[in-house]
Amino acid sequence: MFYDLAAMTWGKEEKKALNTVIESGFFTMGKKVKEFETVFASYMGKKYAVMVNSGSSANLIAVASLFYKKDNPLQRGDEVIVPAISWSTTFHPLHQYGLKLKIIDVELDSLNIDIAQVEKNITDKTRALVGVSILGNPAPLDRLRALADKHNLYFFEDNCESMDAELNGQKTGTFGDINTFSFFFSHHIATMEGGMVLTDDEELYHLCLSLRAHGWTRDLPESTSLFETSNNDMFEAYRFILPGYNVRPTELNAAVGIEQLKKLKGMTEQRRKNLKLFQTLFSQDERFIIQKENDTSSAFSFTIILNPSMNIDRNKVFSCLKENNIGFRMITGGCILRHDVIKYYDYEVPSEIINANIAHDYGFFVGNSPEDLSKQLTKLYEVLDEAV
Ligand SMILES: Cc1ncc(COP(=O)(O)O)c(C=O)c1O
Repeated sequence: MFYDLAAMTWGKEEKKALNTVIESGFFTMGKKVKEFETVFASYMGKKYAVMVNSGSSANLIAVASLFYKKDNPLQRGDEVIVPAISWSTTFHPLHQYGLKLKIIDVELDSLNIDIAQVEKNITDKTRALVGVSILGNPAPLDRLRALADKHNLYFFEDNCESMDAELNGQKTGTFGDINTFSFFFSHHIATMEGGMVLTDDEELYHLCLSLRAHGWTRDLPESTSLFETSNNDMFEAYRFILPGYNVRPTELNAAVGIEQLKKLKGMTEQRRKNLKLFQTLFSQDERFIIQKENDTSSAFSFTIILNPSMNIDRNKVFSCLKENNIGFRMITGGCILRHDVIKYYDYEVPSEIINANIAHDYGFFVGNSPEDLSKQLTKLYEVLDEAV
């Protein structure tokens, strides 16, 4: 492939780390996971991190934890405001826990939720906001945070595709009461599969520790407020307090994560250099609507929406990209309302969804990775210029 959607980012350090775990013969969640959680929380400037086996699992236990808080828990039937574009597993746990999704359009340029519409649609039934920064570009997280504070709502930030982006000098994935990350291949750091929950709230942290592993108490510190220990050791060894899961990562994932995190800053710098070139090539050309950066993107990938007023044939564009060995795909998961799964959700669409549908029908993205993509991006522009 001349220009692929993603590239392998591991070097000898990751392979060595894997070998060390293999030599130890100890694979199930242990010291490496703890160490990765500690360095990850510190990098992001948050108190608590809980590693899991994917970003989707992070979303699942993050949402679940809000249902088991002692005070003011979420309840079935509560309303949650979500953007129309995100990944499927941003939405699924909200549905699985019985929330009603209020689906709001995105802005055509940033591809993030239209904040003016969020404010208009908060009602007495609204209990939570979901913030998703699409493909590295910070959503209006500061304003979502302010709205959540003003209306006493939970703010859940799914930052699975925007690690290391910044808004007002603050990392994305740190604005929510609870925040999630993915370490899937092609993401800013990759641990084969993997995800993280991040929070400053001790109760949510403890809830996630239990929800990650069977709903048991074994991973909780003695000082927890979640339950009171009895003096029956037999019972305490297998004591279940929550309807939890087993979404634990392995030591292998964490060992790689530790090495990848050391490289994150440099990798983001290179991703951003590629972004600057992409912006230079495309931003003045009205045939292509590219993602408008909100403060500091970590440039997961490069989105292009073919200007809908120009009657451009997207299939012809796709054929040209294929002929030139340039990978492309749908923008994140496209508009959630266009997927069959929507029939299972309890949801409402308070205002017309225009931009998410345009992104779905006229958009696509090409890859970014922490290597110099000057040749690939220059060729991309030539191919598209010719095709359109
Ligand atoms: C916004 C968003 N949330 C959740 C996920 C799920 O992460 P994972 O693939 O690690 O399960 C993704 C995956 O890319 C994502 O983009």
